[in-house]
Amino acid sequence: MNDTVLVLNGPNLNLLGLRQPEIYGRETLADVEALCRETASGLGLRIDFRQSNAEHGLIDAIHEFRVGSAGIVINAGAYTHTSVAILDALNTCEVPVIECHISNVHRREAFRHQSYVSLAATAVLAGFGTGGYALAIRHLAHLRADKPLRTDKTA
Ligand code: DQA
Repeated sequence: MNDTVLVLNGPNLNLLGLRQPEIYGRETLADVEALCRETASGLGLRIDFRQSNAEHGLIDAIHEFRVGSAGIVINAGAYTHTSVAILDALNTCEVPVIECHISNVHRREAFRHQSYVSLAATAVLAGFGTGGYALAIRHLAHLRADKPLRTDKTA
């Protein structure tokens, strides 16, 4: 478990590749999963890759990985901007949490500029396309090398 990164995807990301490709590109979620696995294998990490359209599905996954994993990469989709429940779950995490958005949410509608996830995130990536997931995993590997039993969220 302590070498496993949870890569958690929220609502509508199952439609990646079909959904607004002018914003999110043509890669599918399966492509993102392959990228994550390839990135992790070069870093001695494993990936547990999940997607849920339901808030409780995301919260249950966070609870599973909140302690003892190598960290969480979360693209909570639209719940980023609305979910206090996901924020509360992330605030229980003793592992690093990397918030990842495919698009640059700050260039988009004002309602996307607010992120509850950011209030609990160790780091935030937005606008790197699907490559942001690979950057997030690399950063978790870096944190792990420095602080194998990291418990604070400020470093
Ligand atoms: C997203 C940005 C969110 O605002 C949006 O609701 C998504 C995807 C992104 O990856 O850019 O579903 O998180």
